[in-house]
Amino acid sequence: MSRKARVAVFISGGGSNLQSLIDASKASKLSGKIVLVVSSKEEAYGLQRAKKAGIDTFVYRGKNYPSKEEAARDLFEMLAAYEVEYIALAGYMKLLPELIVRKYEDRITNIHPALLPKFGGKGMYGHHVHEAVLAAGEKESGPTVHLVDEIYDNGRILMQEKVPVLPEDTPDSLAARVLKAEHHLYPIALDNLIKGKYSDE
Ligand code: GRF
Repeated sequence: MSRKARVAVFISGGGSNLQSLIDASKASKLSGKIVLVVSSKEEAYGLQRAKKAGIDTFVYRGKNYPSKEEAARDLFEMLAAYEVEYIALAGYMKLLPELIVRKYEDRITNIHPALLPKFGGKGMYGHHVHEAVLAAGEKESGPTVHLVDEIYDNGRILMQEKVPVLPEDTPDSLAARVLKAEHHLYPIALDNLIKGKYSDE
């Protein structure tokens, strides 16, 4: 069997996407092994999911360091210690330090709960996204997996999955439909990236 790529998943909350990546990895549907879960919040439920799966965790809070540079350096060293090759952001609410973005260029993914480039950017997260989609009268929504650069929701789009927006939808009902599609899409898109399917010919 070929060697699995070493992946760190970054979270800030419930971690249902983390769970779908853990499950895909266990079922050998992901050619990556999650070696570390990084959380910006100590109370994130996703940390429990990681522990249950036997994955090491690291709570990373910029505030705990004397400077931005030292915070970035510590994260950089932690990822290096785990020999991380890919980073999957899954509900991570912070911007990554530039040092990390540069080191892992084209190997960092994010999942966003709308069809980018629409409904993205700063402030477009959680229920705000689904409220905006409904307010715009969109007929379709769905998750986007994209590469990460220093700007929110800006990197190259790798994959999208469309779901219908129904006339009776509330932000919650739409969010639930999109989230289900996220769980299907993210492992596939990450697997494709690891397998080099997005490399320019
Ligand atoms: C998802 O909707 C994802 O698109 C967004 O944050 C949410 C994370 O949910 N980036 P979970 O923590 O994976 O359950």
